Amino acid sequence: MNILLLGSGGREHALAWKLTQSPLCKNLFIAPGNAGTVSLGINLPFGVNDFEQIRATCIDEKISMVVVGPEDPLVNGITDFLLSDPRLASLLVIGPDKNSAQLEGSKAFAKSFMQRHKIPTAAYKEFTLENYKDGVDYLRDHSLPVVLKADGLAAGKGVVICGTTVEAMAEFELMLQRAKFGEAGRKVVVEEYLPGIEMSVFVLTDGADYVIFPEAKDYKRAKEGDKGPNTGGMGAVSPVPFATPSMMKKIEDKVIKPTVDGLKKDGLVYQGFIFFGLMIFNEEPFVIEYNCRMGDPETEVVIPRLKNDLAELFKACAEKRLKEIKVETDPRTVCTVVAVSAGYPADYQKGKEITGIENVNPEDSIVFQMGTQLKDGKILTNGGRVLCMTSYGRSIFDAVSISKEELEKIYYEGMIYRQDIGYEFE
Ligand code: AMP
Ligand code: GLY
Repeated sequence: MNILLLGSGGREHALAWKLTQSPLCKNLFIAPGNAGTVSLGINLPFGVNDFEQIRATCIDEKISMVVVGPEDPLVNGITDFLLSDPRLASLLVIGPDKNSAQLEGSKAFAKSFMQRHKIPTAAYKEFTLENYKDGVDYLRDHSLPVVLKADGLAAGKGVVICGTTVEAMAEFELMLQRAKFGEAGRKVVVEEYLPGIEMSVFVLTDGADYVIFPEAKDYKRAKEGDKGPNTGGMGAVSPVPFATPSMMKKIEDKVIKPTVDGLKKDGLVYQGFIFFGLMIFNEEPFVIEYNCRMGDPETEVVIPRLKNDLAELFKACAEKRLKEIKVETDPRTVCTVVAVSAGYPADYQKGKEITGIENVNPEDSIVFQMGTQLKDGKILTNGGRVLCMTSYGRSIFDAVSISKEELEKIYYEGMIYRQDIGYEFE
């Protein structure tokens, strides 16, 4: 098969790494890819929302399968766009259609889906400018903290947790009256705050059946001790120690099954990943959010634990044969530590030369590149999150220690990483 993978982050580097290990994968194209994917396939010089170019590549390069990494092209309808072309009638696409991608693309859609299908989640109400005054009344009486969420995609920034009513009112006004998050915030979900501990569960579904991938926990805050601003993710671990078999069974019965059944009942076509962002509180799972894709950096720990042939899994998914598949997992612990550019998640510089990647010991560690670019034979930083060091270990502490040791072999100006990934499990 010729496969086209869309995206340019660590998630895509990890997917490319795994796909190219499959005998089913003849040629891999990545659009746009990064410096890490250069050695695994052919990087194409266009973005994930350039639908015309993506379609032309599928036709010209005789692509059999498109794997969509990030959410925006899914929410923008890449799956529908490609499959509606008669020349691409036999194309396999991993990623839901536009309607189903609303699970991530609209928080209000996701919340009403969960309510309709009795999936445990925080109580909520949605507001627009039209019922703005009702929103103010609602906020006045709401328990604290209270969570405000911009309805649409806001690059991971659209959630604000407010500790006081005054702060909540101000934020509500900023979102609705002053369009703080632009179009994405024209509708706001006001939600009850759930205390507890977060984890992520990943499912690949063909619309009828599903397989569960290894679970993970990511570390979203920029600074040690889970302090500082939210980021895309500073590290991840898998397995998650508190995700016991009985907890995973509860998650499957109360969250995964009702979600897949709910999609069917609502007539939503879904072939791809569902990423469940969960809060575990009092030994019960609650859905905080759905994503219609894999997580980053979660993919960089989940995929290295997957023993199956990923291309075969994807093929079975797109051909609705997931029922035949059993996921096999590497029992070792896998952790990743993300190295970022100084200043991230606020302003940071790009274009710094990265050296030392070739010195990393391949026995236990893998470097997955994130924001990098190959220029004149040099690997340069090209984003806030630059690369991550994934390591296998006997425990979380062991794997994280190996990652930190290996990261010392790599250098670029302004390189920063958290020292305490997995700290609560030591
Ligand atoms: P999201 O963009 O939906 O992933 O939300 C970002 C982060 O906000 C989540 O990872 C949680 O840490 C936090 N969060 C979102 N919703 C809630 C909630 N209802 N209760 C507590 N924390 C929340
Ligand atoms: N690391 C969180 C995400 O990918 O959404």
